[in-house]
Amino acid sequence: MPRRQRYLFVCTNRRPEGHPKGSCATSGSEQVHAALKEQLADRGMARTAVRACTSSCLDVCHLGPVVAVEPDGYFYGRVRVEDVPEIVDALERGERVGRLVIPDDQYDEPPKKRDDAR
Ligand code: FES
Repeated sequence: MPRRQRYLFVCTNRRPEGHPKGSCATSGSEQVHAALKEQLADRGMARTAVRACTSSCLDVCHLGPVVAVEPDGYFYGRVRVEDVPEIVDALERGERVGRLVIPDDQYDEPPKKRDDAR
């Protein structure tokens, strides 16, 4: 198999329902991964240009489902199956979908609000 130009790492970590951190799998990442694989294959990109892989937790759980795009070094967050055609279109052009890219200042989980009322 040739080395691809890009690798997509789709977090498919699954935590139990109700876990405080949530998880990408419980937010639909397995369906996102399947849609990426299917659409990349349909366009003839899967074997040469872009491989969609799964990954364990990428530690941006609060913005899941998360997809890391390498070697470009950016992450997509809150990806839905409906976003996949736009993502694949952008990959085909060597571009990214700006509205889905996680800004550098959002990788840290926001602090939990304190309940001062008690
Ligand atoms: S569970 Fe997906 S980033 Fe942590």
